[in-house]
Amino acid sequence: MAETLTKLTYQALQQGKSIFSVAHKAISTQAMHLFAPNAKQEVEPWTPELLATVQQRMDKILAQDWQDAEQGIYPESLLFDDPWDEFVLNYPTVILDMIGIWERIGGKRYQEFDRDIQKDAYPRYYLQNFHYQTDGYLSDHSANLYDLQVELLFNGAADAMRRRVLAPLKQGLSAFDVPPHQIRVLDVACGTGRTLRMIRGMLPDAALFGTDLSPAYLRKANQLLSQRLPLGGTAKQSGELPQLMQANAEELPYQDNFFHGLTCVFLFHELPAEARQQVIQECFRVLQPSGTLVVCDSIQMSDSPELAPAMRNFPIMFHEPYYRHYVTDDMTTRLEKAGFIVAEPEVHFMSKYWVARKPS
Ligand SMILES: C[S@@+](CC[C@H](N)C(=O)[O-])C[C@H]1O[C@@H](n2cnc3c(N)ncnc32)[C@H](O)[C@@H]1O
Repeated sequence: MAETLTKLTYQALQQGKSIFSVAHKAISTQAMHLFAPNAKQEVEPWTPELLATVQQRMDKILAQDWQDAEQGIYPESLLFDDPWDEFVLNYPTVILDMIGIWERIGGKRYQEFDRDIQKDAYPRYYLQNFHYQTDGYLSDHSANLYDLQVELLFNGAADAMRRRVLAPLKQGLSAFDVPPHQIRVLDVACGTGRTLRMIRGMLPDAALFGTDLSPAYLRKANQLLSQRLPLGGTAKQSGELPQLMQANAEELPYQDNFFHGLTCVFLFHELPAEARQQVIQECFRVLQPSGTLVVCDSIQMSDSPELAPAMRNFPIMFHEPYYRHYVTDDMTTRLEKAGFIVAEPEVHFMSKYWVARKPS
């Protein structure tokens, strides 16, 4: 009975997030046409078939998410781990921020940063207003809005996509016969720390690490990871603070063979091809033999041709300069080139997953 109630609550919550996100997008698009017609972009309309496919995929990932939690792969409390207070607090700023976004789109200004931001410490490819975000990834303002913006983009299912890395990670770690507290896991390009928070819920004893290029996003991650899990999450599942470090994923600041597991969520589509390969090489280097890397990133043309219009629209609507190359890139070949043994990739909702093992 309690289980059924929890399931219904989860379904209702997701439905609510989805309805809100769809309404938000419809109203903000209308507002843009009215107040900033210059920002209107030429994109392909979504057909009813496309919408139906996306909805089916979303229903499927939510069902799988519930099933994995019910089976105890990760705690059910993770399904309700939304920072609601932050979302409510930040929503007006997301709305106000759109004015800046529309101006940048209209003026075709995609590399615009606050004057106080030190830019010389970053690779050139990174100095972009990804998603037309104010300051790209390089301010607290951007870090504060990011999670809500991504939730709105994916109709409330962004975390469900992140949680798909948990089962293969847990499975991969079972190759090691060591006590749980000796397991080391790194989330590469951890952003605001949402994936790390999930991994900590699943592996409360493991030593967790996170790296990202953005000091502002790491500050946000530190804040998020300092809070407890809600709704039945135990103090243990809220665990120790992961060790966060600012680093370019192309040069990870760890010794060879250090980690038992690695995750990397939504990074590769934001890298040019050479950087993509270099990050994979680094992941291979810092993983122990028998260790597992789980990558979650956007779907690609080869696995989801029926969603091609959405993939063609995405880089236009969200300033993603490396995405067009990414959607036709052969990530399996890249992973194999680094030395990994790669399982058949899986696709869930709008994401694709590669599970790559370093040979023993
Ligand atoms: C789309 S966000 C994904 C963040 C997070 N993994 C998530 O699930 O939301 C991309 C992240 O990659 C980081 N990033 C981009 N290029 C990087 C690089 N070369 N090295 C390290 N982090 C990088 C950005 O700062 C940003 O936090």
